[in-house]
Amino acid sequence: MNSYEIAVIPGDGIGKEVVPAALKVLEAAAQIDGGLAFKWTKFPWSCEYYLEHGRMMPSDGISTLRSFDQIFLGAVGMPDLVQDHISLWGLLIHIRREMKQAVNVRPAKLLRGLRSPLREPKDFDLVVVRENSEGEYSEIGGRIHRGPDEMAIQNAVFTRKATERVMNHAFELAKDRKGHVTSATKSNGITYSMPFWDDVFKGVCTAYPDISTSAIHIDALAAFFVMKPQIFDVIVASNLFGDILTDLGGAIMGSIGIAPAANLNLEREYPSMFEPVHGSAPDIAGKGLANPIGQIWTAKMMLDFLGYKEIGELVLAAIEDTLEAGVKTRDLGGNATTSEVTQSILDHLLNKQGS
Ligand code: NAD
Ligand code: IPM
Ligand code: MN
Repeated sequence: MNSYEIAVIPGDGIGKEVVPAALKVLEAAAQIDGGLAFKWTKFPWSCEYYLEHGRMMPSDGISTLRSFDQIFLGAVGMPDLVQDHISLWGLLIHIRREMKQAVNVRPAKLLRGLRSPLREPKDFDLVVVRENSEGEYSEIGGRIHRGPDEMAIQNAVFTRKATERVMNHAFELAKDRKGHVTSATKSNGITYSMPFWDDVFKGVCTAYPDISTSAIHIDALAAFFVMKPQIFDVIVASNLFGDILTDLGGAIMGSIGIAPAANLNLEREYPSMFEPVHGSAPDIAGKGLANPIGQIWTAKMMLDFLGYKEIGELVLAAIEDTLEAGVKTRDLGGNATTSEVTQSILDHLLNKQGS
């Protein structure tokens, strides 16, 4: 029996609704496998916690989390009560950085039973590999100058180490997929970081002669996501470009509420963190309207990372069965609740047992 210690941080808003749904599915996956078990430890770290304690997590929060195998997180943010840069840098980004989760893997594909908003959706199946530790998300040297010529300065940081790491991971993934890597660049307009990004990409390409490659400016690339997403396999992108592309990836699947993500510590020195693409969705929180599929597909990514790929495939198939049966939340044009979608996924998953 392999038993995994998982730190669970539901966070804010719909995180508190979709995380319990995904834990039920993970419990069912463990039941099916027989040799797999989870021990959940829940942490209430969130904006509510901040309002009570003046910080998003305790000062020893990172060392507490380091004793776990993995972290399963919902979403963070109550922007009406706590400024986003405080809540996100105090919890989500803090954990990503301290746990050296330098790569964020975010797949998007046309699921069985779903209607993409694209007019003529081809059968796309892509994965964005997002740099997760630096880039445009940098605090170094940033500042606001007050006075008559008020201005804000925000620097971007691109190290060779982190850039090579994320690109190498993209190529490794492409080896087991369709064998193509696209680099998201913008070296026509951004004069230091993106030409550097292109140079590093060219260097990494030479180590993978069997993988075909292309480099596309992020503006054109975003348009291709809408016009012909089927041309992509693996896309490697900087932190901000990857962030934007992956909400778009969710949108072309049908809803950002179904898009999954994994913040990986590839070295497995510290826990990785599994957390969907979407946020805390304050506009629908507490109403049972949240689509749990993003969080449940994220749970599948955790199963994959732990080495349970077969069960992970069963979870994804159960999601697709549910969509095919028309059990959908409002964001997908249906009228099912969070718990009805979850129950349907559980039913389909448990039906697969022994089949
Ligand atoms: P959001 O992703 O929370 O919501 C954008 C839109 O998508 C909303 O209309 C929302 O209702 C809808 N949506 C999102 N997830 C859904 C789901 N599972 N089911 C149905 N509909 C869903 O983005 P936002 O509004 O920009 O951000 C809200 C808060 O979440 C902010 O505080 C933001 O900083 C934070 N945020 C957190 C994370 C994270 O913790 N990983 C990610 C993104 C945003
Ligand atoms: C995401 C989110 C975060 C990011 C925000 C909330 C800081 O949008 O995980 O995609 O930009 O990384
Ligand atoms: Mn985002």
